[in-house]
Amino acid sequence: MRVVLGVTGGIAAYKAAHVLRGLRERGHAVRVVPTEAALRFVGAPTWEALSGEPVSTTVFEGVENVEHVRIGHEADLVVVAPATADLLARARGGMADDLLTATLLTATCPVVVAPAMHTEMWFNAATVDNVAALRARGWTVIEPASGRLTGADTGPGRLPEPDDIIRTALAATGRSAAPGPQDSPSAHGPLAGAAVVVSAGGTREPLDPVRFLGNRSSGKQGAALVAAAAAAGAQATLIAANVDSGVLAELPAAVAVEQVNTTAELEAACAAHASHADVIIMAAAVADYRPAAAAEHKMKKSGDDLTIALVENPDILRGLVELRDAGRARTGQLLVGFAAETGSHDGSAESLAQAKLLRKGCDLLVFNDVSGDRAFGRDDNAVVVYRAGTGGAEEVTRSEGSKADVSKDVIAAVAAERSR
Ligand SMILES: Cc1cc2nc3c(=O)[nH]c(=O)nc-3n(C[C@H](O)[C@H](O)[C@H](O)COP(=O)(O)O)c2cc1C
Repeated sequence: MRVVLGVTGGIAAYKAAHVLRGLRERGHAVRVVPTEAALRFVGAPTWEALSGEPVSTTVFEGVENVEHVRIGHEADLVVVAPATADLLARARGGMADDLLTATLLTATCPVVVAPAMHTEMWFNAATVDNVAALRARGWTVIEPASGRLTGADTGPGRLPEPDDIIRTALAATGRSAAPGPQDSPSAHGPLAGAAVVVSAGGTREPLDPVRFLGNRSSGKQGAALVAAAAAAGAQATLIAANVDSGVLAELPAAVAVEQVNTTAELEAACAAHASHADVIIMAAAVADYRPAAAAEHKMKKSGDDLTIALVENPDILRGLVELRDAGRARTGQLLVGFAAETGSHDGSAESLAQAKLLRKGCDLLVFNDVSGDRAFGRDDNAVVVYRAGTGGAEEVTRSEGSKADVSKDVIAAVAAERSR
């Protein structure tokens, strides 16, 4: 595959050398297109030596080959890592004032960008707006990691690890990152060749720069499901909403991981997969409401009680059903919902789950009783899978045991439903 690696002017530019190496080791040809600013951090000889290809930042070199159009046209994948706030703004504005932005305008292949910048730049309304616009155009914008930044400060804005960038980038083209032998998806499993996307964890809605409204989902069940899907032969992608790094570290290498934080980000990531996913399993616990406005600065105690206005979040599963019904999703796509119910005066947990299946319009619903201490953070689980039958919700299977065993049963039910 022919990959263009855009590198922009941030401290993390040196990490792009590892992204380049990793792509080359997986057999891909890589043309590095840095910005002028990037070359102030890491020089052209590094990129030329590691890629074996020439490096230019301007449209006025190699003019006889019309490089500003050719590079984008020939690319099977464009990855920009790190992407500065400036690059996001220029790309959003459709600028073509250097070779990288011209390439981004002419590329018709998947584009994956990995922003890295100070937390303030990342949360600035202009950057938030630019990221949303680029995602809406179909680009994959990888969430930055949290941690130590350029100075002594910490927060979201770090470039994710090169291996995570490579995994996400290759997944955007429908490929997995060269799995090790024990991780190889089976070519003959019940989901062989199917693109399966699983969301996991819990979304968080910021109240201010340090606080959020969240839930207790650990992401273990979603992680077990995506691993079971990969073992069943699927091209598996996990959209991880605040899943513990320990849980992510145990995923098979064949699983592509995209990290999101808020419900809006999860919605955008799911929508971006709708066109090519054969199966989408929505196991993430999505916040039903978010604060009407997140405070720009940390909220201080005032001595008075505090009332926070909440607005309803979009219903992501319902939105996916609507995309499919409108013919804007992969033909024959199977949509699987999760219902974590505790029961209430409106009915038993089980009857609420059955009602949810019919209300949402998905194909299968995995019901999981979370009353008491069940499910959250534990390694075992008990679920009932329902399908939407002609006469209402029909029970497909019951499963109890470790989250890995339960996942195998759920994936078997998914495979069976696909072949009905
Ligand atoms: C030491 C230093 C580190 C920087 N790190 C970043 C960064 O991590 N992210 C970012 O968006 N901008 C960063 N900048 C600012 C960019 O270099 C600047 O906006 C530049 O114009 C980006 O150009 P480019 O997008 O064409 O590469 C940094 C600047 C300096 C001097």
